[in-house]
Amino acid sequence: MKVLIMYASRYGATAVIAEWIAERLTIEGWETERREAREAPSAFSGYDLVLMGSGIYANGFLPEMENFIEERKDELAEVKTAFFGTAMKTECMFVKGKAMGGVQIFEKYAALTGTCIYGEMLHGEMVYARMTDTDKKGMDYFYRMAGFSELEIAERKKPRSLMNKAEVWAFTENLVKRVMKR
Ligand SMILES: Cc1cc2nc3c(=O)[nH]c(=O)nc-3n(C[C@H](O)[C@H](O)[C@H](O)COP(=O)(O)O)c2cc1C
Repeated sequence: MKVLIMYASRYGATAVIAEWIAERLTIEGWETERREAREAPSAFSGYDLVLMGSGIYANGFLPEMENFIEERKDELAEVKTAFFGTAMKTECMFVKGKAMGGVQIFEKYAALTGTCIYGEMLHGEMVYARMTDTDKKGMDYFYRMAGFSELEIAERKKPRSLMNKAEVWAFTENLVKRVMKR
């Protein structure tokens, strides 16, 4: 089996997760190729699966991954596909009458290819001090909107990693089962 892992990562968490997935697939005896969304191969023939993953920003994939899926959707409709997201909150929340976050984020991307067999949301990490000014402003806005106290905001600005290789390998195992229909 040969898997193309396409990923988009702003601060590196998704890139590491893509590496962990590839490591586990290699142990399973599968062949893998990892590419950033901006450096997609010219064709997907020869791959048994195209796995796409992105850091989650404001409840969606990064623009480079969204563009990749949109631009290549006709070709992606000809191959098995799967998704993963890297987020601080992996579960879906219900806010003001609307479902937000979690794997339901994948629905709009899955609708474009029509070939998605599986997806999971995985835990990432957040280091405020390392963010761009634009992202810092975005986070400050979110904290204010969410009504957090100064103390809570200070807590959230501490470097936080929820990355978990066991979780990533469990996802990879689930994915293998889906592909092999075991
Ligand atoms: C501006 C900004 C917006 C974010 N939006 C979300 C979000 O909507 N939901 C979530 O769970 N995590 C959110 N995060 C956390 C990221 O998904 C997390 O840091 C992830 O590990 C980033 O992966 P990357 O380093 O591969 O880009 C956000 C982070 C930033 C900086």
